[in-house]
Amino acid sequence: MIDYYTPSAEFYDMVAVRHTASSGPPLARVLASVDTSHGPIVEIGAGTGRITEVIAATLPGADIIAAEPSATMRAILTARIAGDPDLRRRVTVTDDFAQDLRLPDHVSAVVVFGVAGHLTPPERIALWRRLSERLPPGGPIVVELMGVHAPRHIPPVMSLRETIGRQTYEWWIGGEPASGDAMRFTTTWKVLRDGRTVREVSDSYLWHTIDVAQLSREAGMTSHRVTEAGGQAVPEIGVLLK
Ligand SMILES: C[S@@+](CC[C@H](N)C(=O)[O-])C[C@H]1O[C@@H](n2cnc3c(N)ncnc32)[C@H](O)[C@@H]1O
Repeated sequence: MIDYYTPSAEFYDMVAVRHTASSGPPLARVLASVDTSHGPIVEIGAGTGRITEVIAATLPGADIIAAEPSATMRAILTARIAGDPDLRRRVTVTDDFAQDLRLPDHVSAVVVFGVAGHLTPPERIALWRRLSERLPPGGPIVVELMGVHAPRHIPPVMSLRETIGRQTYEWWIGGEPASGDAMRFTTTWKVLRDGRTVREVSDSYLWHTIDVAQLSREAGMTSHRVTEAGGQAVPEIGVLLK
């Protein structure tokens, strides 16, 4: 198991703010009807905690387990939780990878945003089985994918440009087919000052391409795809149900 995220974790929250603006509302809509009496909500790969905040705001009575294996991402997550009295009372942060996730006997729902493709198909199948054993009928596993269903060449594009203080941050991302169903994505953060690049930080990670229908088959669960929230099209989000 590899921690892909530490090299660029210092920048990730800029991505997470934009991502949460589009993926937060559909997630909230799915979670709003969850019965939280069966156990905690489990969030796998919680990153910097922006989606954790959406879960907590949508389900004010729920306890949350937020698992995040990257120490640097987890530091931001823990700081976010520690700084809010309500989150502090309800959110337990762990350092677990999905592959060896410690789980209580019962959970009410599971959120897996931006993580599933980091697992191989056998790892995902094992995870869905363990989660399914603990969920009640109707308890959802909400999965956000990347919208890439088969390996292909994706030329590097600038996906984000933000200014903080006197510096501008650009996030470039591209991908190439790796082996089998996997793609290797490479991301580069450029930090510019007075129009000049003063830092460049790159990382790369493997992503096993997958779509919601395949998730459903491998989990042996029914699925539906969330296509819009508040009239806006949303990223690829699937809901798995036993
Ligand atoms: C794209 S980020 C998404 C973060 C957060 N879920 C969000 O939507 O803002 C993926 C996160 O998954 C974590 N991750 C990567 N591989 C993982 C694994 N095998 N098990 C659990 N988490 C993993 C990374 O450390 C990173 O924080």
